Amino acid sequence: MLPIFLQFLLLAIPTLLSFNVGGANSQAVGWNPKQHPYPKVPRGSKTWSYRSAKKGGNDTFPDPYFALEKPLDTDPGVIKFIDDQTKMLDDYVKGCKSKDKIAKAIADAFDYSDYDNVQLIAQAAKPFYLYSVKVGKDNRPTWYTCTPSEMDAARKNNLATPPGKKFLDETLLSVNGTVNIQYTFVSNDGQYFAYIAADANADVAKVFVRKFTSPLAQAKSFPEGGEGALPDALPFIDGNSGLAWTRDSTGFFYVQVNDDQSGANAEIGSAVRYHKLGTPYEKDVTVVHPDKVGPNGKQNYWFVWISLDGKWLMVMGLNDVTGHAKAYATLYEGQTISDKMKWIGIASDYNYKVQWIDVIKNVFYYWTDKDAIDGKVVKSTLDWSKARAIKNDISEIKDDLQMTQLVPEQKFSKIMYNFPFGGDKVMLVYIVNGRYVPKIYNFMTGKLLKEATPNEPSSIYNAIGDKDGIVGMYAGTFSPKTVYRISFESDKYSETLLTQQAIKGTNPNDYLTEHLFATSKDGTKVPYAIQYHKSVKKDGTASGWQHWYGANGFIENYLWDQSYFSWIRSHHTVFIWSSGRGGGDRGEHWHEEGQNHNRQNAYDDIIAIAEDLVAKKIVAKGKLIGEAASAGGMAAAVVANQAPPNTWGALFAERAVCDEAQRQRTRLGSGQTAEYGDVNNPVDYDYVRAWSPLQNINNKQKYPAMLFQPADSDDRVVAANTFKCLAQLQYSNPNNPAPLMMYLARAAGHTGAGLSTDSYTDETIAQHCFAELALGLKRTD
Ligand SMILES: *[C@@H]1O[C@H](CO)[C@@H](O)[C@H](O)[C@H]1NC(C)=O
Ligand SMILES: *[C@@H]1O[C@H](CO)[C@@H](O)[C@H](O)[C@H]1NC(C)=O
Repeated sequence: MLPIFLQFLLLAIPTLLSFNVGGANSQAVGWNPKQHPYPKVPRGSKTWSYRSAKKGGNDTFPDPYFALEKPLDTDPGVIKFIDDQTKMLDDYVKGCKSKDKIAKAIADAFDYSDYDNVQLIAQAAKPFYLYSVKVGKDNRPTWYTCTPSEMDAARKNNLATPPGKKFLDETLLSVNGTVNIQYTFVSNDGQYFAYIAADANADVAKVFVRKFTSPLAQAKSFPEGGEGALPDALPFIDGNSGLAWTRDSTGFFYVQVNDDQSGANAEIGSAVRYHKLGTPYEKDVTVVHPDKVGPNGKQNYWFVWISLDGKWLMVMGLNDVTGHAKAYATLYEGQTISDKMKWIGIASDYNYKVQWIDVIKNVFYYWTDKDAIDGKVVKSTLDWSKARAIKNDISEIKDDLQMTQLVPEQKFSKIMYNFPFGGDKVMLVYIVNGRYVPKIYNFMTGKLLKEATPNEPSSIYNAIGDKDGIVGMYAGTFSPKTVYRISFESDKYSETLLTQQAIKGTNPNDYLTEHLFATSKDGTKVPYAIQYHKSVKKDGTASGWQHWYGANGFIENYLWDQSYFSWIRSHHTVFIWSSGRGGGDRGEHWHEEGQNHNRQNAYDDIIAIAEDLVAKKIVAKGKLIGEAASAGGMAAAVVANQAPPNTWGALFAERAVCDEAQRQRTRLGSGQTAEYGDVNNPVDYDYVRAWSPLQNINNKQKYPAMLFQPADSDDRVVAANTFKCLAQLQYSNPNNPAPLMMYLARAAGHTGAGLSTDSYTDETIAQHCFAELALGLKRTD
């Protein structure tokens, strides 16, 4: 999910490393703009006109590099632009003496065992563990099964070798090894493994099923699903939507869509269907049809789930990224499975979120944000006598359930995830001042059982519950993976460390964390965290690397990232996680305070943290790097225009939106107007116009060294955003004291998900070289 970085070279300046590491000097070390004229890019006369409330009429602005929006792989003008910019960067980074050291540091940071999907199949006649692991530079994980006693023996050795037997090697799912498993679902009897797999991580996938008695550890041929899969192969699956095995393990409910034709078909639909094992999928019954009635005429996305007792089937529909849902429940057993079954309405009209926890004795326990923006746990009775059969469409059912509150909202601490386990327990993961705080409750009574804060500040990226306990998977800045088994015996908490992975030659305990606050422009206290090696002196001489996201109510803190880790390790830098407004770091209101008309707050907060670091002598002025991706990358381009000179020595804008008006002309961008404002609304337009990076580039500003990092196959934020921004920056500021450059990631999309280790490494080398050159930094290795 984290993107990455760059690569360069440079001709001309052989003796450029004069190590003028000074504070207040904003001239990049060894960079003389006169010797490096930027490539010429033809300017056109295209303009755009939008209605402005402030002007009481239209506002018109030029878009001189509109031609760079043409297809980047075929248009000669765009190809030349990319070639010229790539050469410029290549020439610059030729002066990077530590390329090999950087490559080695990154390779070291990939050298660990990436345990994931760890779960106890407690419902099986003989309970066993299932997990996946990717060792070192493996491109795909291998799945294993082992007994609890094998796991117990192996954990004493930190799972140095994967315990148990190979069950499924993902490289054997296709000849070229590009097919990967996205989601898995084990049947109620613990005998079947359903897996949703796709080629090169495409959005539309297929379901395959195999028995645990039929492993795929070697192969002579490569049929779809791999040798030994059952004939039950279902195409056009939306893996995000889940899959729900029936209690008797004879079939499952799933969500099917139309062929998206590699993104060309927007009418993709979403239907809930039922598959009986051993029957052709063409005979599968549709249970809930695509809903095209939702507000704004959008199609929705269905999700399916079955209660742990196997009695209740639930479906939930969303129609946009807000997560506001419609939801329905049925006692499916005893009914003929069809699109005319009887249902109870849970939530009927996309007014609030519903996330299921479980149903016990006809009482539905769930998480909602109804009248509680930071979330609460409630219960509602499912009264089967009120169920009604559908005549045409499930939307006929218009009921909402009465709720009784169990775990009240905790203001300013948002519930990010909920993971049920152990029959009556739930792990609620709260976000408190940008930190993940897992708390375990009895969800039937609302009683807090245990605040299970991990030792090192961590991000929680997965937890899988079973009838006896839960396995929690964590990552931290200094340890790529920590896995705990948590269980309760007669309500007594116990926590067993299965593994904590660390990079050879490093010790996560050698690093310190501090939680601080900066004061933003409007006086708001903004949290942030610093992490650093204990040898770092906080006397105003250290360098720093500040990361931010700050949008969509998400948080991006305490992530494991090979680039960050190798940089921290090789520079003894201070790493900074920013928790500014727009993110969910202080609850949903924190998100709203950085959204739409409040969007400027998000940028002020990023700048306030950077300035606080210097004021507190944590980081030397001019030796701070700012780095962010996607919405965070957009913020990097904004603060480059807005911040006082030398706030950062270098800025990295990865997969960044630079032209907010252009974003709305792309496919997924138009769904984000609630977050950033709608340029077609005259009031919103004035707000967006005031910060949209491209339209605010100015020739009076001194920009830090900037590296833009678009990706050639990014369909969420098209690379032209960066092309236009960079061309304009180079045109208006040809003598900027620091270089303004670009690394175009090849065969790369918006997220890091499909990126190969080699591509990741190339981009990171380029980025680290750029930063070392521009700031004149020395390595410690
Ligand atoms: C004003 O802007 C709107 C929205 O872009 C556009 O449809 C309209 O043609 C513009 N009017 C003029 C006079 O340019
Ligand atoms: C890899 O193989 C799959 C089929 O197994 C095919 O659909 C896909 O196009 C291939 N991908 C590449 C990159 O060759």
